[in-house]
Amino acid sequence: MSILVTGGAGFIGSNFVIEWLAASSEPVVNLDNLTYAGNLENLASLEGDARHVFVKGDIGDYELVLRLLSEHKIRAVVNFAAESHVDRSIHGPEDFIQTNIVGTFRLLEAVRAYWNGLPEAEKMAFRFLHVSTDEVYGSLSPSDPAFTENHRYEPNSPYSASKAASDHLVRAYHHTYGLPVLTTNCSNNYGPYHFPEKLIPLVIHNALAGKPLPIYGDGQQIRDWLYVTDHCSAIRRVLDAGRVGEVYNVGGWNEKSNLEVVHTLCDILDELAPPATRNLQLATFRSLITFVKDRPGHDRRYAIDATKLERELGWKPSETFETGIRKTVRWYLDHPDWVANITSGAYREWVGKQYA
Ligand code: NAD
Ligand code: DAU
Repeated sequence: MSILVTGGAGFIGSNFVIEWLAASSEPVVNLDNLTYAGNLENLASLEGDARHVFVKGDIGDYELVLRLLSEHKIRAVVNFAAESHVDRSIHGPEDFIQTNIVGTFRLLEAVRAYWNGLPEAEKMAFRFLHVSTDEVYGSLSPSDPAFTENHRYEPNSPYSASKAASDHLVRAYHHTYGLPVLTTNCSNNYGPYHFPEKLIPLVIHNALAGKPLPIYGDGQQIRDWLYVTDHCSAIRRVLDAGRVGEVYNVGGWNEKSNLEVVHTLCDILDELAPPATRNLQLATFRSLITFVKDRPGHDRRYAIDATKLERELGWKPSETFETGIRKTVRWYLDHPDWVANITSGAYREWVGKQYA
């Protein structure tokens, strides 16, 4: 038997597939339609590994998904595939509706048809794990307690609204059809293979090129950061032992303002790659910080309470923000070719449009 991972050429999905195959002999079918965010270079270390079967295709392609499920005797689906960038959802929400809502719906339909035809024992053991986000819970004020799984859904961007809709569909497929689903709602990830449209890799990339480091608004918005492999270990744990139909929050207990994050990145870069060694006439990378127009509808604060996951399943993150962020900067410094390839072409168009 195998597992089906969707969106496994993206940031978190590729980290998950690499970690899965390092820890287990169970094959992975990786379904990804390679949008701008999907990158086969992320999976280069798996070349020649017969346990990894990559299929270029859409989660909304019912026939294709049904065929993959049957042909590979899939025992679990982990659904990462999504449009994931809030700023892009503000410029153009349509793709988000299409993949995150309609795509998840079609995927669920194919899984339901396959699951219905399984023998009873396999039906019981089957799992559909939906990877979601803390953004569905909306925005917190500074003194609010962190989001628990019971927090009401208050999505504020087209991205978070589309993820919220997909979470509701997943929930409904359990309650209505009995599909054995699990949902994880995670905070902001960072680490290797993170596409440089998101804050942390964008800042590293711009700093090394001597370009402005754009901070939206006053930079005091707070995010709760989790190193990507900790998110992957949480998903594996929930897949193994999570209670069917349950939702598990995943977070790093690392609340930081955006400005704090950018200062930390600048300080690590000053130490590991001083501006002078890159022919930049700057005393410190901090001097590149530039305040720009705020994101419309910008959520002020996210904070995740991951107590349930720790209490029920014994999961805890292994990295602190300090260890994880250093590893991340190191990774980008060690992989200039990955960055150069990904930031050519369409990436430049996006940066031109967003930061004009
Ligand atoms: P990403 O944008 O880096 O990767 C998404 C992947 O999905 C890409 O490889 C893309 O090609 C693929 N994809 C998009 N549409 C598809 C479709 N219709 N069919 C098949 N494949 C498709 O995203 P990410 O940051 O790795 O996020 C993965 C998942 O985790 C998303 O569901 C996201 O909502 C969720 N999440 C992300 C974070 C974060 O901080 N990045 C935090 C919590 C939850
Ligand atoms: O919370 C989980 C979510 O985290 C995921 O569901 C999303 O897929 C993921 O993209 C991320 O969303 P954010 O909007 O929080 O991440 P982003 O890296 O885009 O922005 C982080 C913060 O930094 C946010 O407050 C906006 C700010 N920012 C971002 C960019 C790209 C800036 O100040 N300047 C920038 O140029």
